[in-house]
Amino acid sequence: MNVHDSEQLTELLNGSGYERTDTARQADLIIVNTCSIRDKAEQKVYSQLGRYRHLKKERPGLMLGVCGCVAQQQGERLIEKIPYLDLVFGTHNIHRLPEFIARVEKTGRPVVETGFHETVPSVGILAPPEKGAVSAFVTIMQGCDNYCAFCVVPYVRGREESRRFHDILAEVKALAARGVKEVTLLGQNVNSYGKSLGNGHRFSELLRAIGEIEGIERIRFTTSHPKDLSDDIIACFREVRALCEFIHLPVQSGSDAVLARMSRKYASADYLDSVRKLREACPDIAISSDIIVGFPGETEQDYQKTLDLMEKVRFDTLFSFQYSERAGTAAVGLDGKVHPDEKRRRLIELQALQDQHTREKNDKLVGKTMEVLVEGTSRNTSRDVMGRTRTNKIVNFAGGNDLVGKTVRVRIVGAFLHSLRGEMLD
Ligand code: 5AD
Ligand code: SF4
Repeated sequence: MNVHDSEQLTELLNGSGYERTDTARQADLIIVNTCSIRDKAEQKVYSQLGRYRHLKKERPGLMLGVCGCVAQQQGERLIEKIPYLDLVFGTHNIHRLPEFIARVEKTGRPVVETGFHETVPSVGILAPPEKGAVSAFVTIMQGCDNYCAFCVVPYVRGREESRRFHDILAEVKALAARGVKEVTLLGQNVNSYGKSLGNGHRFSELLRAIGEIEGIERIRFTTSHPKDLSDDIIACFREVRALCEFIHLPVQSGSDAVLARMSRKYASADYLDSVRKLREACPDIAISSDIIVGFPGETEQDYQKTLDLMEKVRFDTLFSFQYSERAGTAAVGLDGKVHPDEKRRRLIELQALQDQHTREKNDKLVGKTMEVLVEGTSRNTSRDVMGRTRTNKIVNFAGGNDLVGKTVRVRIVGAFLHSLRGEMLD
């Protein structure tokens, strides 16, 4: 989501005559796009802004701005904390950046804009993928109405609001016409798409309609809430050819008591049932998830239930976090804070278990032939290219730049924790 917001900012700035620089030192304008999901992310913002202080001193003409979730939540307070800032604008105001820059240039005074708007702000901005890019993000909804007890998103991204069905289809068609083969549909809770529209368009219909667009070989979406994963969405994994065999389905905890305190509105048995149905519809589906350890009141038994659930599901990949208290969320008032050392211990242990599962899953792929969409040159050596399987696994294999954008068959010859090694067959 933030990567996509940054792409949109880049697009807007290109339209205003700005060009991307290689280093901050060369820039006339620096915008820091921020995340406040956990305290660590927020602290990073302050240290980064601190590093720009001397640049601003050397060149007072340099314009320095902060946008995104930290800007949304802190607003004016950011200017009080960091008086050399020129721009602070929130998640719903990204599309107004050129107007804000003009205001600062005219008045010489900082601009702070953190209002919420009802329409999805990306409407009307079509962030074209970089020339030759094969993959693009498409925002289908903004905001979230779920108010999970730990989560700051509803406060910083506002109410849930779906984009119009036909606007989304028009955007995907335009992307396909530019050579994009893979789209990732974005929203905090994509499987409740359409609820706010009131005209009956559901997420499954959107998947089916995008599946009909010529040139779109792969559809992905993120993020899904387990409580909204309906049977008609699951059926799409069987029936929509372009829908990739991959789902990110955050479970957060394996303990029903913790899930209830988190206000997740499902029990671990419901989650396991969804996993069973997904695998029935699509036996090769890869499943990834998010888990929080050390939520207030999480006992050792609760934590063990999370490990049990991991054993039952066997996720392909997992993003796991220590609980981080966020101001304004419901969990702030809960008893039973878990000691930081204990949170760390649980996280390390849980990650070791997941590494084992990831390795086992990857090892099983050795010898198999998989379809890989080549995204670019490999990070390790320019003699290799890197791409992804439909199940979202990274594969490196020998090949030249001419393969970028192509879908090729690759035999897997080696497995690591974070990637696979392959040999091209075609
Ligand atoms: N502390 C730790 N992790 C959090 N997440 C969201 N809020 C918090 C928090 N306060 C995690 C959840 C979510 C992912 C994007 O970030 O697991 O799914
Ligand atoms: Fe946060 Fe996701 Fe819950 Fe919304 S559904 S409140 S974004 S964790």
